[in-house]
Amino acid sequence: MPCKDTIFKDFNRKQKAQLFVGKSSWELEPIAGKSIFVSDGPHGIRKEVWKNGQKQTVKAVCYPAAVLSACSFDVDLMKELGEELAKECISHKIDVLLGPGINIKRNPLCGRNFEYFSEDPYLSGKLASAYIQGVQSKNVGVSLKHYALNSQEYARLVNDSIVDDRAMREIYLKAFEIAIKESDPWTIMAAYNKVNGYHATENKELLTEIAREEFGFEGVFISDWGALWKPVEGLKAGLDLEMPGLSKGSETRILEAIENGEIKEELLNQSTRRLIDLYEKTEQPKKAEFDFYHALALAKRINDESIVLLKNEDDLLPLQKEQKIALIGDFCLCPRYQGGGSSQINPIYVSDIYSEMKRQKIDFSFAKGYDSEDAKPKEELIEQAKKAAKGKDAVIVVCGLPRMIESEGFDREDMKLPQSQLRLLEEVAKVNSNLVIVLQNGAPVEMPFAKNARAILESYLGGSMHAISVCDILYGRVNPSGRLAESFPLSYEDVPSQDYYCKERYQSPYKESVYVGYRYYDSFDKKVLFPFGYGLGYAKVEYSDFKVEKVGEEYRAYFCVTNHSAIPAKEVVQLYVGQTDSNIFKAKKELKAFTKVALQPGEKKMLHLQVKEEDLRYYSLKRQSWQLENGNYRFYLAKHAMDESRYVDVQINSGQEPEDKNPEWAIYYSMHRNIKDKEFASLLGRKWKKDADSKTKSGFGRKQRKTFTTESVIDEFFETFLGWLVFKPLAFYMIATSKDDFERQTLKKAIPDFPLRILQMSPGLSKDMLDGIVAVFNGDWKKVWKVLRTKK
Ligand code: BGC
Repeated sequence: MPCKDTIFKDFNRKQKAQLFVGKSSWELEPIAGKSIFVSDGPHGIRKEVWKNGQKQTVKAVCYPAAVLSACSFDVDLMKELGEELAKECISHKIDVLLGPGINIKRNPLCGRNFEYFSEDPYLSGKLASAYIQGVQSKNVGVSLKHYALNSQEYARLVNDSIVDDRAMREIYLKAFEIAIKESDPWTIMAAYNKVNGYHATENKELLTEIAREEFGFEGVFISDWGALWKPVEGLKAGLDLEMPGLSKGSETRILEAIENGEIKEELLNQSTRRLIDLYEKTEQPKKAEFDFYHALALAKRINDESIVLLKNEDDLLPLQKEQKIALIGDFCLCPRYQGGGSSQINPIYVSDIYSEMKRQKIDFSFAKGYDSEDAKPKEELIEQAKKAAKGKDAVIVVCGLPRMIESEGFDREDMKLPQSQLRLLEEVAKVNSNLVIVLQNGAPVEMPFAKNARAILESYLGGSMHAISVCDILYGRVNPSGRLAESFPLSYEDVPSQDYYCKERYQSPYKESVYVGYRYYDSFDKKVLFPFGYGLGYAKVEYSDFKVEKVGEEYRAYFCVTNHSAIPAKEVVQLYVGQTDSNIFKAKKELKAFTKVALQPGEKKMLHLQVKEEDLRYYSLKRQSWQLENGNYRFYLAKHAMDESRYVDVQINSGQEPEDKNPEWAIYYSMHRNIKDKEFASLLGRKWKKDADSKTKSGFGRKQRKTFTTESVIDEFFETFLGWLVFKPLAFYMIATSKDDFERQTLKKAIPDFPLRILQMSPGLSKDMLDGIVAVFNGDWKKVWKVLRTKK
């Protein structure tokens, strides 16, 4: 490949503008004769190919979704996952893998939580860094996504995340900061949503001022698919590439903006140079060494290390082969093992619990118990299950969330399992109390059944090899060592953002600020079902000799871990730190370090974890900078976020001027929840106005929105006669031609909230044409005429 300067010099202005837009759905415009191919991600390869005139996805290994692999708390394993994914990418000629996804799990109902690691930014950042290092070590790039504050699926293309600077820095950007600094991702995907008034793809503060100038990101910013509407604003903000390459009109708009002096050509040059850098990186020699069996073995190992044992009363588990067992649940036959949407893999292999138990020669009676596609309880199935359960030494019931209620594209309506499964669990518990519940779900569920179960195994969405690991754990061949990477609240009512989460189409106030997940439950003594970091094993592991010392600019926590059992164990040791005498409202404690350690029977290990002093800072809203407060910092050596049995206090004298309490933020010291708009506005430091227009009623009754824009959603167009006439048939056509019930349902939920501009991805529709359509709806005939005349 010729050198970068030569390539750059060969481009004229038009070619540079062309480079800004992809060539097709998954391909970038070629440079020096070479194209770049990208593909989803993140937990397997989803490469689309055309076969016999039909679009298909290649067969690939389906790894556990991030919700599960995060529970391994194992950075080395994440690196291996990255390496293995890269090898599979190379075998399919993929240059950039679209992942990992590291959005913070703000609320358990987000339909896409399964694709993200955690509610904790430190854990997310560390796991993502290792994954990225793994992928990129094989000369394949990643696209770290979705930057940023994309915490819901509802109206994701138009919703504005309104957040204070402190929560933004400490919670929502922290994982990106860690990943950028530690692993240098080749690309980052800018999210669909807006952040504080600006689309993430057009947000200069996010892309340039924070990611590039503060965090040191040097790679390419890519728009999420269809997220960019204004290419010139995108360029100004620091975006380099619009994807997919289906929209028409960006190139002309960029050229016009240069010609009329709105932007300098240098801005485009910078993006071109970054794209050339990416081409150079992907040109590096790659070794083809992919082996399916090796990859499947890794997928199995990740399951083994990640599945979380939540309850095991009187050591009911592990089960013994001679015991009489009933196995119940439709999910044993048709498992829920991955999430829906852009991360959905066409798996090369999928295990299921029923076949696996047979293969392992375990004797059991089976009953379906419920129909996974139907929420209504079926008496006949319940009766069969009770019959199977009676008199058995243990009853394994496999339950979970059907794909119809949890996916990319929409959020869940509640945190409950379907009624069919809840009834089944209640009824089966009446005939047998030795209940072992195995869960297959992408996010926490309420567990009214927990009291009736003697054992609960959270297996989340485990991909190709999930069932083999579940059976190995149930029968003790694997000692479970996963720990929850998110809190399980007792009920949805307890979730800090529940009062306003997904209540408005056009904006999402992040009123709870830094109190996300355990930071809220722990700080305000709210009981949870299972805390962040929690998980059991079959061995007894204890900690001792805990002390903390300052060494240079960091604190070192020394401790011993001992396995007091006759079986090998793996232990996740967590170090949390919180200030006990702070003037600033802060979480009681936060995860600052962790490690996973393997211990032979009876083995004792001396270990240490370190925390940099700068990682104890908070982001001061008043001073708009990171500050280290003087005071007493408590270091907890813990088994989970609410374990306070071992701690050491350390006095820190930073010499920084103390900051006074702000009386306007009193609510954030007590968090009795009813956070008023005024209180939130004070935290934001600016006015925060509700968008009255976003409250839509369906039907013709609603007054027409004053002015339509390409940002207006289809639901709003429906409310005019012309809109109904044009868009109803279009929506009907899209729904009617969808490939299955699942896609049909997703579209039904999502279409009303699609902004008009998303149609730029439809064949034959350019940005100018969509501007023309809007002009028609606004009765702006002058504009219509202008569009017709220019015909771009
Ligand atoms: C998703 C991205 C994905 C892209 C390409 C978008 O809808 O938000 O995560 O990488 O599609 O499939």
